[in-house]
This record gives sequence, structure tokens and C-alpha cells, in this order.
Amino acid sequence: MINKIKTLIDEEKLNERISEIAKKISNDYINEEIVLVCILKGATYFAIDLSKKITNDNIIIDFMKVSSYGSQTESSGKINFKLDLSENIENKNVIIVEDIIDTGITLNYLYNHLISKNPKSLKLCVLLDKKERRIQDINVDYIGFEIENKFVVGYGLDYDEKYRNLPYIGYIE
Ligand code: IMP
Ligand code: MG
Repeated sequence: MINKIKTLIDEEKLNERISEIAKKISNDYINEEIVLVCILKGATYFAIDLSKKITNDNIIIDFMKVSSYGSQTESSGKINFKLDLSENIENKNVIIVEDIIDTGITLNYLYNHLISKNPKSLKLCVLLDKKERRIQDINVDYIGFEIENKFVVGYGLDYDEKYRNLPYIGYIE
């Protein structure tokens, strides 16, 4: 089914951009505690690499899992909630870390879910932004790369659960 995976963003570019975002986050939260909420499974590679580059002392990592994909490459528009936070985020600075924003439905849902737990602040950080696909408008605070409307895999992103372990972002032709 898959003919070829072409490189869209190579390892070096990912690394550079993630360093820049980490620097920005480090500066935005000087002397503050941060809870990074990694959205499973896609954001794992990004969230872990990002966390290693943030220089603040007080970082907590937590995980949530939702799924919105009905078929392998098209959003179903419905969210299935699979795993909630294990940490109490009340009065904490929270950053949701997600692999990609497409229609915006997933992040919108997650934002509303987490804001109801009364964090001190809540920001969004995504590696990839498919801007032209947006259905639900949402403000993203930290964006790695804006990309075209292509189905991408690698660095956490999957096609039918495969290709997450590619060290670069590729697209399927
Ligand atoms: P949204 O709710 O439409 O914004 O979809 C976001 C979710 O869809 C992401 O967390 C991904 O899991 C998945 N997704 C969207 N586009 C792609 C893609 O190009 N490759 C792999 N997964 C994608
Ligand atoms: Mg995802």
C-alpha cells in the first residue's frame, strides 16, 4: 500500500527547531514549575526530546491518551478518551504537548478538559501544524513547523501504528 516515504523534515532540522522551542519555554517559565502533558502515542518522541532541552529545574511529565482517527488517514471528528492524567494540575503551569494539529478537534477537546481542572496556566505546544485543515479555531502557543496538507509519519506519527520510530518526519506518496 505504501510506495515510498519521502523526507519532509530531517533529524537535524527537528533537533534545531526543538532546541529553539525549548529555549523559548525555558525563558517563559523562569522559576516556575511546568507540567508537560504528552499526548500518547504520537507526541512521545517530541515531548521527551523537548523535555531534555528545557533548562528549568521543576518539570513534571504526565501523559494522556485520546484518539480521534476513525480510518487510518482521515479524522473521524469524534474523540475517544483513553487515559487521563495521573498528576493533579490544579494551580500548576501546564503545557499540552502534541505531535500535530490537523482539524483542531483533538486539541480543543483536551484544552477544555484540562482547563476544567483549574491549572494556573494552560498553553499548547505542537510540533506540526496543518493549518489549512483547521475546523476548530484554537490558539497554539508554540509551533514547530507549519506543513502542507500531506499525511506524515515518523518521529512519533504513525500510519496504522507503524513508522513511529523513523527519526525524521516523512510523507507518504
Ligand atoms: P485533529 O483532531 O484533526 O487536529 O487531529 C489530530 C490527531 O490526528 C493527531 O494527534 C494525530 O494523531 C492525528 N493526525 C493528524 N494528521 C496526521 C498525519 O498526517 N499523520 C499521522 N497522524 C495524524
Ligand atoms: Mg496523536
